[in-house]
Amino acid sequence: MRLTRREFARSALAASVAAALPAGLFSACSVSSNAAHTASVVPLASPRNQFANSSEIKFPKNFFWGTATAAYQIEGAWNEDGKGESIWDRFAHTPGKINNGGTGDVACDSYHRWREDIALMRAMNLNSYRFSISWPRVQPSGSGPANSRGIDYYSRLVDASLEARIRPMLTLYHWDLPQALEDAGGWPNRDTASRFADYVELVAHALGDRVSDWMLFNEPSAFVDLGLLEGTHAPGHKSLVDFLRASHTVNLAQGTGFRALKATRPSARVGTAFSMSACEPATNSEEDRLAAERAHAMTNLWFLEPALNGHYPEALAFLPETVMRIESGDLDKMRAPLDFIGINLYYRAIVSAPSALERLSHAQEWLFPVKMAGGGQGPKTDFGWEIWPQALYDMATRITRDFNRPVIEITESGCSYNDGPDASGVIRDTRRIDYHRQYLLALARAIADGADVRGYHAWSLMDNFEWAEGFNQRFGLAYVNFKTQQRTIKESGRWYANVAASNALPPNPATPD
Ligand code: FCB
Repeated sequence: MRLTRREFARSALAASVAAALPAGLFSACSVSSNAAHTASVVPLASPRNQFANSSEIKFPKNFFWGTATAAYQIEGAWNEDGKGESIWDRFAHTPGKINNGGTGDVACDSYHRWREDIALMRAMNLNSYRFSISWPRVQPSGSGPANSRGIDYYSRLVDASLEARIRPMLTLYHWDLPQALEDAGGWPNRDTASRFADYVELVAHALGDRVSDWMLFNEPSAFVDLGLLEGTHAPGHKSLVDFLRASHTVNLAQGTGFRALKATRPSARVGTAFSMSACEPATNSEEDRLAAERAHAMTNLWFLEPALNGHYPEALAFLPETVMRIESGDLDKMRAPLDFIGINLYYRAIVSAPSALERLSHAQEWLFPVKMAGGGQGPKTDFGWEIWPQALYDMATRITRDFNRPVIEITESGCSYNDGPDASGVIRDTRRIDYHRQYLLALARAIADGADVRGYHAWSLMDNFEWAEGFNQRFGLAYVNFKTQQRTIKESGRWYANVAASNALPPNPATPD
């Protein structure tokens, strides 16, 4: 069954481990195999009743209201001004990889239209813009000198953001590795961690006089899963060994990149945008609860624990160290005491333990004994992702509890609805308004319950190239006509503008407390 793109990837992880690895590589997991598997389904509130407000809800003073984008998804200009080829250029140019043959060659043409994009954010009263740097635009082959024309582009964007009183929040890696580094082994090659540190230093040197807030990576667990194991994203590998090795290199790169950035700009605030899903046990059984904890470790902690605590998550006691090529001293190298934790959250996962029979017939349970699925109770977006605002509350409060109340930024949340302009040209995307309203209410509760959340970034500023889906999924607060490149602020963008201006959610009489 095809689940959401990330949940599917994790099911695929479970399935492919079976074939690929000898069981002896792993030590046994801690799940008790004789617990009953007959417990009833955990009762859950319906999403309608999870969060509602009959009066205005204020957000903390100086809260950041933003949107997020990524270079490959919006810039276009894939081979202009000395830019090198990225793995996404190569992947999208390979027939059959992207829905309807879409590519990011032009995308939203933001490389040329960035002034319009800043104007959109001004019109929405935003004070934070999370965007990414294309590595091959500023360092075409992934090593060596900077491409000054690429740097100039980002420099202009940073200056224009600051002039508009919008905080530039930069992601250093949102999935577009220089193809030359892929040809040298890509993320499975541990040298890539050193290349990454050099690149970070180069960008910090060029822009760090004006940029204070940085993310090293966007969703490491998504790009190593989808790109190296499932093969549905660039570079399109289907290899468990590559997945494991790439995971370790990225963890090392988080450490090397963090130190490079701090060495160049000591006062920089540095985080990573982690892809997170609240992992709920399918039933009350002990087996399912343990499985949900393992799923949490794999989904939410695989790149966070190494950075903050210098080790892989303890719930995954069966780490294949030899296959991952973990060397002595690596645990210290992975450490990166992040200044904030970025949370990208769209949905939850429902987790169950594999049955005894499944265990017998699938050796993968040695490595990753969980079964994950999307939730089925909430309404679905056009992408098929379940709307479940409680998941944002759950993750923000859990991270707060488990990591000693860190600073949190919501670096992405959003929904795909393909509403277009009506006869009068208005895009009435009321379902998107409802989505953001509910997720923001969940967030407000988390803040009231102690989470130190500093900002919320809607994915996305405008409709854009949605990876393997091409242009089929529209996430924007602004509509993009991809034939004319005209941008039109949707009703959701207007609503968000009011929220940002008042730093508060208006009362919603339709769903009183
Ligand atoms: C996230 C990605 C982002 C976008 C949204 C819909 O996983 O970080 O680039 O594709 O999903």
